[in-house]
Amino acid sequence: MIQAPKGTYDLLPADQGARQLLESHAQRILAAAGYSRIETPAFESTELFARGVGAATDIVQKEMYSFDDGGGRSLTLRPEGTAPVCRAYIEHGMHKLPAPVKLWYLSAFFRAENPQRGRHRQFWQVGAEVIGAAGPEADAELIVLLAELLEAMGVSGTRLRLASLGQPETRGAYRAELTEYLHAHSESLSAEVRARIELNPMRAFDASDPGTRAVMAAAPKLIDRLAEEDAGHFAAVRELLDAAGLRYEIDPTLVRGLDYYTRTLFEFTSDALGAQSGVGGGGRYDRLIEQLGGQPTPGIGWAAGVERILLAAPARPRAAEVVDLLVAVADRDAHGARAAAFEVAREARRAGLAAQLELTGRSLKSALKHADRLGARYVAIVNDAEQSVLRDMTGGEQRELAAGAVVAAILRGSRL
Ligand code: HAM
Repeated sequence: MIQAPKGTYDLLPADQGARQLLESHAQRILAAAGYSRIETPAFESTELFARGVGAATDIVQKEMYSFDDGGGRSLTLRPEGTAPVCRAYIEHGMHKLPAPVKLWYLSAFFRAENPQRGRHRQFWQVGAEVIGAAGPEADAELIVLLAELLEAMGVSGTRLRLASLGQPETRGAYRAELTEYLHAHSESLSAEVRARIELNPMRAFDASDPGTRAVMAAAPKLIDRLAEEDAGHFAAVRELLDAAGLRYEIDPTLVRGLDYYTRTLFEFTSDALGAQSGVGGGGRYDRLIEQLGGQPTPGIGWAAGVERILLAAPARPRAAEVVDLLVAVADRDAHGARAAAFEVAREARRAGLAAQLELTGRSLKSALKHADRLGARYVAIVNDAEQSVLRDMTGGEQRELAAGAVVAAILRGSRL
């Protein structure tokens, strides 16, 4: 048997209700705030992610599905949406539109990660990006919109972590300071952390051994080294979130796996998830558009994992599918019966009813059973080109009428 590739899954009909709910909440919340939907291609040139996401990130180094297009160009299945949206912004001259340009997406993404609960190789994200707004209101508004979406979906146990990364120059100087600090305390660090001081000093904040943790508790924090303007921006974002009544924790050790961030960085986690607790996150990327060849333009956005939102939300009732009418024939060989039934179903749908035609040729008895299973409100049993019986499945009463009168009778009935 051929199975779906590891880390991928099928979206079966039973899964669609929850997805549609998420899509309609996202559409409602984001459209009301002035966001328009965008969809970029499933693959892009590999260079977009190398330049946009960052050549040294895990995503670009280890997790991309890249392939040759047959003409010597390297393409990659998109691992994330921000670089593609910025590429589209530049390519379509969206800087000519009134600023800011606010976009949202609900799309599939691809990362060659080790699959586990809430972590897939093809997964879905709902995301939002604001391009062309530098002020702290944009940061706070986006964070509030994500909080609203998670709340509307019933995601439980959420926590918001917040940090600021400042500018790349500040980070360079901070990294040098942290490296020096770690060397000065190397005798108290675990061997693993000690070996990686030069490679990735920030990792020391994630260590669990008591020696390293004691050293890191007193380590310099990037958040205390921010340039005045960056610190001011961060303070303004926090004030707006306070005013909105949104609770958050400042986490100076918050790191995200993408290199394009500047200033504000945030992540929502949920207690309802296991090891993969990040439901959604994002941040500001004021240099990205320029890095991709556009004019210097500020940007900020987030993305949330659809699978994780659904995992962290308690079971929702499935939206019941409505079937107004099932059309069956009494005798398939009766003159004109099949054509008349076909026409009744078509006419019903044109009139806005959810109407299904009995397609399997089952007996009348089992057609009625099937209608019950579907929860159909009416069954039309077509006898021949002229005659039919309309049965109200809720009350059980039925009456004879011309096939051409079925739809009008249902419409009248449903108005009572
Ligand atoms: P990210 O944190 O890499 O950010 O991904 C956002 C969300 O996608 C995560 O919080 C998680 O819920 C979900 N996710 C990521 N990888 C997987 C996976 N392998 N399986 C299932 N879910 C996953 C970004 O992608 C940025 N583009 C967000 C952003 C937008 N920043 C600014 N604008």
